[in-house]
Amino acid sequence: MPVITNIEDLRVLAQKRVPRMFYDYADSGSWTESTYRANESDFQSIKLRQRVAVNMENRSTATTMVGQKVAMPVALAPTGLTGMQHADGEILAARAARRFGVPFTLSTMSICSIEDVAEHAGEGFWFQLYVMRDKDFIGRLIDRAKAARCGALVLTLDLQILGQRHKDLKNGLSAPPKLTVANMINMATKPRWCMNMLGTKRRDFGNIVGHVSGVDDMGSLSEWTAKQFDPALNWGDVAWIKERWGGKLILKGIQDVEDARLAVQSGADAIIVSNHGGRQLDGAQSSIGALPDIVEAVGDQIEVHMDGGIRSGQDVLKAWALGARGTYIGRAFLYALGAMGEEGVSKCLEIIHKELDLTAAFCGHTQLATVDSRILLPSTYPSSPKMEPSGSM
Ligand code: GLV
Repeated sequence: MPVITNIEDLRVLAQKRVPRMFYDYADSGSWTESTYRANESDFQSIKLRQRVAVNMENRSTATTMVGQKVAMPVALAPTGLTGMQHADGEILAARAARRFGVPFTLSTMSICSIEDVAEHAGEGFWFQLYVMRDKDFIGRLIDRAKAARCGALVLTLDLQILGQRHKDLKNGLSAPPKLTVANMINMATKPRWCMNMLGTKRRDFGNIVGHVSGVDDMGSLSEWTAKQFDPALNWGDVAWIKERWGGKLILKGIQDVEDARLAVQSGADAIIVSNHGGRQLDGAQSSIGALPDIVEAVGDQIEVHMDGGIRSGQDVLKAWALGARGTYIGRAFLYALGAMGEEGVSKCLEIIHKELDLTAAFCGHTQLATVDSRILLPSTYPSSPKMEPSGSM
């Protein structure tokens, strides 16, 4: 067993252990993947300012996200098909997150259902909602999340239509996997994954199959989303969903200052600056690049979170310094899950926490409350010129 000291180690191990179809699903972006790459590389170009001879005793990374105590400003992002990276993946990741004291967000497109995660990993996790054409189904999903006492609803606004990820089409991505010759040959090289998967009944979209009339089998993910996701989603939907949910509401997928202002008007509790991990609009700005203008425009009216490109605690600190009061890790925890299951997710959180804690200390801070953009070299972080509204709404 290799010694795991960073997220890249977990990625390498996941690539060995997870069937190509699912590893590729997690690891790819849309079209040329330029936004996917920029999410990470824009973090790399931000430089930190080292301080010395500051008392570094009694440090803490604890804070709150939408009023909930968190051990660090990091939540597990909602990711589709998590239970295909590792058998029972959502339950395992939710347990690791709970133990660590950070939120786990269950995706609508999860393998384990809301009820299943609540039963096996405890209540209080967050639930992510996709808006589909069938509004009764969406209403019932919200009620199910309420019944499971989910701590927040994360409403995704940037996936009315699906960005094209070439690898998913080439691999014929579906859950359960289509048993083509190529997939079977690839799976034969992943015996640990196969054994675990044979040991569970959870191999389909638990929140959906059996809950939507006429859906007994999902076929390919891209075909299914094209049919079911609501391309007409608009701010009116945000209003009825907020009303039906009644709890903390977080809007995910904001990249533009104008949309951030509309999000404030909607009465949501927080927004997530996100380009869906570079999986939707390829060519969009990186999330860390989009963050400063949005914080400047609405940061005093709504809690601003971000995701996209976070592979270390240093990235978390940089996002915090630029005004994000919460961050989300998607791929980082999926690699960990695929590599080592529940233990891997715990390891991932420990790695990120240690990097965050030490980096804040090297920059002269013992707690996050005192950290701001002064820990960054000014010429190295994004501050783009103000933009005009981008056309019709
Ligand atoms: C769904 O969230 C996806 O990005 O595939």
